[in-house]
This record gives sequence, structure tokens and C-alpha cells, in this order.
Amino acid sequence: VRRQPSVEEVAQGFDRGDVRALARALTWIDDGDPSGRELLGRVFARTGRARIVGITGSPGSGKSTLVDAMALRLAQAGRRVAVIAVDPSSAFSGGAILGDRIRMHASTQLPGVFVRSMATRGHVGGLSRATEDACDLLDAFGFDEVIIETVGVGQDEIEVVQVAHLCLVVLVPFMGDDIQAIKAGIMEIASAYVVNKADRDGADRLEAQLRGMLSLYDDGARDIPILRTVATRGDGVDELLATLARLWAERKDQPNARDTRARRRVEGLLRERLFEAWIAAPEATARLESALESVRRREVDPHGAVDALLAADMPALDHLAVAVRSTDEALAFWRDALGLGVSHVESVPSEGVRTTFLPLGATHVELLEPEGDGPVQQFLGKRGPGLHHCCVRVTDIHAAIERLRGLGVKLVGEAPRRGAQGRLVAFVHPSSAGGVLVELSQEASEGAP
Ligand code: CO
Repeated sequence: VRRQPSVEEVAQGFDRGDVRALARALTWIDDGDPSGRELLGRVFARTGRARIVGITGSPGSGKSTLVDAMALRLAQAGRRVAVIAVDPSSAFSGGAILGDRIRMHASTQLPGVFVRSMATRGHVGGLSRATEDACDLLDAFGFDEVIIETVGVGQDEIEVVQVAHLCLVVLVPFMGDDIQAIKAGIMEIASAYVVNKADRDGADRLEAQLRGMLSLYDDGARDIPILRTVATRGDGVDELLATLARLWAERKDQPNARDTRARRRVEGLLRERLFEAWIAAPEATARLESALESVRRREVDPHGAVDALLAADMPALDHLAVAVRSTDEALAFWRDALGLGVSHVESVPSEGVRTTFLPLGATHVELLEPEGDGPVQQFLGKRGPGLHHCCVRVTDIHAAIERLRGLGVKLVGEAPRRGAQGRLVAFVHPSSAGGVLVELSQEASEGAP
């Protein structure tokens, strides 16, 4: 068994221009291995130089041959070229088909052309994120051109080619109704159309159809170039590359282009991480599946399902409470020194206490100062100032109490009572909770008793 190289080793190889290090880094990205992210962080400052071109179109439109022809010309012109072949369906078809696809690429034999496949390995962010990370690695490695080629032209593929700066949509004469099927998603992303196999009958008709389709859209779409190629002979490839060069010169410095890409990526990652945090909670996957089933049976609409999932009984830390002799003295630390704000102050006569809440991340610190005799006064007399209780937020406090009682957990008092901010609260005795007083708290809801 060969030892896995460390991030440090791969980073050094990467810096030396060692293609094996690049291949390892891309495998990390493909597998969702955190090492890939670490390496990307180290080399990201070197990105922003490569031109990324996405190529999509129906199977059989000759994309791979076209990509080979383009890569060949670019390499002959002294450009360093990387090709990523992306197959969103590969999770089902396995690696063999993709391997065949790679061997089909004649450009793998060219010096300066690097060809690599990307497959769906089921990571949450999906293939487009992995492709974007792979493009960054290739860019940082020093490739001038990155070509992303997708297998088909489905929704996943459209997402993948949006990673690119420029997108080519490849069509062939006599593709029948396909032109109708693809137009919806493709209209927004095509930088140019390529009619490949243009030596066949029907090329004129296809171009006329395209022009007709584009004329229905706004002025910007009407100007989208339509090019003709016969990729097997290399016909039209120079014109195609010249058009790409012109489009690139026009678009790369457009004010919003870079900002939009950065925003899309950061916001996408944020969404993904928030989802990952949610799905990592106990029972979350099971609850998600059952919510999906309810939507399938039309028992609840998708919005209602998400409302229910987010409000479901997932215990969370609500606050930590500290018993103090003087709130003002305690605020000198919590507010003035530590910098927390005060969100709520309330006297709760039934408990003989004045509470002060300070938000801290998703939770709060609660300062408890005795007002008259009560449990907090007794706590201070017995144990002095210090951590008094921790509060766990629940959705249904009655159900939680019943469940805990059934498990033999000792509770303080019988029924839940009103605490600060109108909440229903109950307490678990420290003897059942490792010596800590645990408060259960349910958000006040309209019409609650
Ligand atoms: Co409390």
C-alpha cells in the first residue's frame, strides 16, 4: 500500500510544475477530500489568468472532436491547454465509460495539453462546485486555456458550463426537436453557437432555425455568433478561435463579470455549508425523507415542509445563565470588556430574580441577580456566584417533559411555568444531569396557555 502524499508534498510538487501533483490535487477535489480545499487555499492567489471555455451540446454533436481540434490549434500556438471532461451521469455509469471517453481524445497525445475527467461522487455541492475548484487548480498551475466539455446538455451540464467565462453550444444538422428541447436553459449562457458537421445537408436550415429562435429574444441574444465547423477536418476551427478571442476581449473586463462569479461561488458555498450543518443534526436525514414523502403524497406543500423541518423538535442551546450578586458589576465584564450587547432585561417576581440577556452567537448569556428571596438567592448563599444553569430550547415542552419523566429523569416541579419573555420553562434536577441545573424552554406561541 502506497502512502498518501501530504498536502505539503503535493503543494511542493504543484509549485515545481509536476503534473503528478496536479493529478493528485484534482483527485482530492473530485473526491471531496479536505486536502484539496487546503491546497486550493494555498494557490488561489495565482488564479485569474486562464481563459475558461465551456462546451456543451447533445451527445453525437462531435464535441470531443471539436475540443481536440481546438486544443491542437491552441497548443500549436504555444498556449498551455487543459481539458476537463465532465459527466454528471457517471455516478450511475461508473468510471469505465469516462475512461473510454478520455482515450477518445487525440489531444491527450499532444505536449502541453492536459486532459482530465470529472465525475459525480455524490458530494453535496455537486459537480459544478468541484469543476470550479478544478478550474482554479488548473489556472493556478499555469494553464492558459481551460476547456470544460460536458457529455450532454441537461440541467446539470448547464450548471457546469456556467463555471466558464465563455460557453459554446454545439449543434449538428438534422438534430430534429433537440433544438426546441435545449433552447430554454441555453439561451442565457451561450456565448456562441457552433454548427458542427456543417458539411452535411441541413446546415443552412439549422442556422436559419437558430437565427429565427434568437430573433425572438432581446437584442443581446440576436448578436450571438453562429459558427460552422467540420471538426474531423479542422475546418472552421481557426474562425471559431478568433471569435472566442474577440468575445474574451469584450467580456473579460466587463465591470460585473468577476464580481458576479465571486458572489455566485461564495453564496453557493455558504448555502451548501448551512445545509451540511443542518443535515448533520441527529435524525435530520430521516426527518428530511419523511418530509419529502409528505410532499410527494401532496399532504403538505414544499414551503410548509421546510417550515416544519426548521421548526421541528431539534434541541438547541438557548442560553447559559450566570448567578451574580450585581448585574452592573457583571456587565463590566460581559458587556464592557467582552463587547456583548444587552438584548433584554426583565424582572421575574415569581422566581425572585432580575434577568439580563446578552446575545452570544446563536445563543445568549443570561445574568441572574436575585430580587428578594428565591432560588437564585439560595444558590448564591450556598455556592457563591457562578454558572447557574444551561437552557435547552425545545419545540414542545410538554412532550419533552413526558419523555424525560418516562426515562426516569428527575424534574424540579410538576408542570412547566412562565419564565422570562413569556416562555414556558421547566427544570431538570442537577442530580439527573451530571450536577448541572438544566432549563427546558419553549418559545412563547400565540394562544398558548
Ligand atoms: Co434561563
